[in-house]
Amino acid sequence: MSDPNDLAAFLSDGWRHLRDGVARSDAPARFPTFATVAPDGTPEARTVALRAADQDRGVLEAHTDITTPKVVALRHNPVAALHIWVPSADLQIRLTARVTILTGPDVDAQWAKVPATSRVSYGTTPTPGTPIAHVYAYEKPALRDSFAVLECHLTHIDLVHLDTRHRRAAYVVGDNWQGTWLSP
Ligand SMILES: Cc1cc2nc3c(=O)[nH]c(=O)nc-3n(C[C@H](O)[C@H](O)[C@H](O)COP(=O)(O)O)c2cc1C
Repeated sequence: MSDPNDLAAFLSDGWRHLRDGVARSDAPARFPTFATVAPDGTPEARTVALRAADQDRGVLEAHTDITTPKVVALRHNPVAALHIWVPSADLQIRLTARVTILTGPDVDAQWAKVPATSRVSYGTTPTPGTPIAHVYAYEKPALRDSFAVLECHLTHIDLVHLDTRHRRAAYVVGDNWQGTWLSP
């Protein structure tokens, strides 16, 4: 068994689950809860799909429609919190990030990989969240210009592993992800 006191190994476990989320649609980290702060200060949380996880850069990616309220929130306050629970590993992953909203030519590579059946997620009219007169009174035309990548530059990672003796650690970008154990 690996050393439970190894901070770097614990962090690697967390990143392995994040990469699994990108690779497999049935992995728990595929669908993090993504929380932002609305311009009026209200916390907002919703599910997104995890599309990229790069440990070397400390960056995660999600894709969205540029007209959604989460983008309004991020333009006002470019921070997000992500939450993932991995039941099979008894692991909670909490992340904080500064978010860069990418569009246009900067996201050509990502758009090229979005399957045609998924492209309709970008361009919904009226704008997502708008009241409509009938349950299906909306269109999904697949608009390239509505496609946005949320590039999440992680600033903080908090891992909790439930076991006979729980383990909790915090990692921050400021100390190069060295990490410190926390009382759980
Ligand atoms: C399983 C699942 C996956 C989702 N993935 C995404 C996603 O990757 N990007 C996204 O913008 N919305 C995604 N959604 C929809 C959002 O949860 C949300 O309803 C929508 O984006 C509007 O959010 P907002 O009004 O807070 O901006 C997903 C919803 C579910 C249930």
